[in-house]
Amino acid sequence: MRRRQFLKTLPVMVSGLSLAEAFHPGQVFGATMHGVAATVHPLATKVALDTLKQGGNAVDAAIAAGLMLGVVDGFNSGIGGGCFMVIRRASGEMTIIDGREMAPGTATRDMYLKEGKPMPDWSQTGALAPGVPGELAAFDFAQKQFGRLKLADVILPAAEIASKGFRVTPEYASRSASAVKALAKFPSSRKVFLKPDGGGWKLGDMLKQKDLASTYRAIAKEGVDWFYRGEFARLTGQWMKENGGIMTVEDLANYQAKVREPLRTKYRGHEIIGMPPPSSGGVHVAQILNILEHFDLANLGPNSVETYHLIIEAMKLAFADRAWWLGDPDFVSVPRGLVSKTYAQELAGRIDRNRAGNVTSYSTPPDATTDIFGKHTTHFTVADAEGNWVACTATINTTFGSKVVVPGTGVVLNNQMDDFSIQPGVPNAFGLLGNEANAVAAGKRPLSSMSPTIVLKDGQPVFSIGAAGGPTIISQAVMGLIRYIDFGMMPQRILQEANVHHQLRPDEVKIEAKIGETIIAGLKERGHKLKQMSSFGACQAIARTESGGFQGMGDPRVHGKAEVL
Ligand code: GLY
Repeated sequence: MRRRQFLKTLPVMVSGLSLAEAFHPGQVFGATMHGVAATVHPLATKVALDTLKQGGNAVDAAIAAGLMLGVVDGFNSGIGGGCFMVIRRASGEMTIIDGREMAPGTATRDMYLKEGKPMPDWSQTGALAPGVPGELAAFDFAQKQFGRLKLADVILPAAEIASKGFRVTPEYASRSASAVKALAKFPSSRKVFLKPDGGGWKLGDMLKQKDLASTYRAIAKEGVDWFYRGEFARLTGQWMKENGGIMTVEDLANYQAKVREPLRTKYRGHEIIGMPPPSSGGVHVAQILNILEHFDLANLGPNSVETYHLIIEAMKLAFADRAWWLGDPDFVSVPRGLVSKTYAQELAGRIDRNRAGNVTSYSTPPDATTDIFGKHTTHFTVADAEGNWVACTATINTTFGSKVVVPGTGVVLNNQMDDFSIQPGVPNAFGLLGNEANAVAAGKRPLSSMSPTIVLKDGQPVFSIGAAGGPTIISQAVMGLIRYIDFGMMPQRILQEANVHHQLRPDEVKIEAKIGETIIAGLKERGHKLKQMSSFGACQAIARTESGGFQGMGDPRVHGKAEVL
């Protein structure tokens, strides 16, 4: 039986004013608020706001939060993993930074097969599971282009917490308990993440990570080369060689963050900016919204069975396409038609308003082989910022990633190779199916569902959302966007609402029980198979308020924290 793992991504949302604005409170927005941050941990939210107070902008603040999360929420994300950043500046320029992990240079299509049989554990745990980490490269790139501070300024507060320690949260304790057995396989992981008695860290324990503190300090002093071309690369290459891995010193030296073209779509008068491939997030958030635009959700209301039915049906159609078409656009052709309005109209026409449909296959968007997503672009222009919004989702994949800590560094390596399709038709840790488009190849980036999203109205940023939870990220983002745009809810209300998710296979709707008996009964009546959950998801959202300030919300499901400055 396949192991069940909890998912591990985490969004950071930061919006802030520029240095000049901070010195003239109220002048720009007519409010006394100068920024907002929403993350899954109070210390990460705090460091983001501290960074804004110290004259950093939202890019600096998001990076400070991301690096802090690598310490206090390291089972979810860290510099041993990857991230995507959507950055919007007051100049109107949008920049998308892809810090997704990359398959090592000798990775092959069939590396997770043994005598033709898939070996999921190889892509999930241990030496073959990690892709080359990209988070630090993305952060460094973003900060050099758009930040006001230096990397040292945003990494040292996190180094201090790593060294002094922090109190273990309920989330940390429960993830730690779930990973004890797998962490115990690796002495370097045992040393940091298990207590001397072999157990996991418990609620309220003070967790210190001296090696990670030293790593962060070395990066502060020597820059990211210490990680990609220096001591970290050497230690990683050595561990890999000794433990049957394939990642080399050269793989780390070759890693590059990529600038990609923003994925833009319009939904009921709002412009939605999301993450293009190799995330499937932006594509399918846009596709689902495009389909739903053909139905008057506002009139149906937020708590009607038909609203949920339509959303679920749109999700099924999108996830069928995801499994077939999506992969790294630097390696495969991903059709742009997936987000076309005419294609969405065709798909919307297939939805039966009264019955759960039987989606048996992917569909074919227009110009599927000729109109494809571009390979990454390398050019962009730097402009003076007057205000910035950053939506960033970071991950090491499942809880504690590969469970491997590079000895002496405190850095947990991701298991993002499991986001490839290790064999067509074989589900990954999230039960997702994939095909040739997402097969493993050297230097390729595995398909993601991460969906950092920024919404513009009349050209101005008004809302931002992102989530953790593998494929449920797409559903959480869609539900949040609909609740904001169709139903006029603000973040604090949105994140109280129930989550629903359908990824086509398995054929079931994941649904939070708090949605209520009426919806549950109504969906069953329409033929949906429901899998009721007490809770799932971890979403952060921020929005501008009518008075020109900010509202933010960290997901209460994981005790997330948002704060307005
Ligand atoms: N590792 C989860 C995702 O990127 O979707």
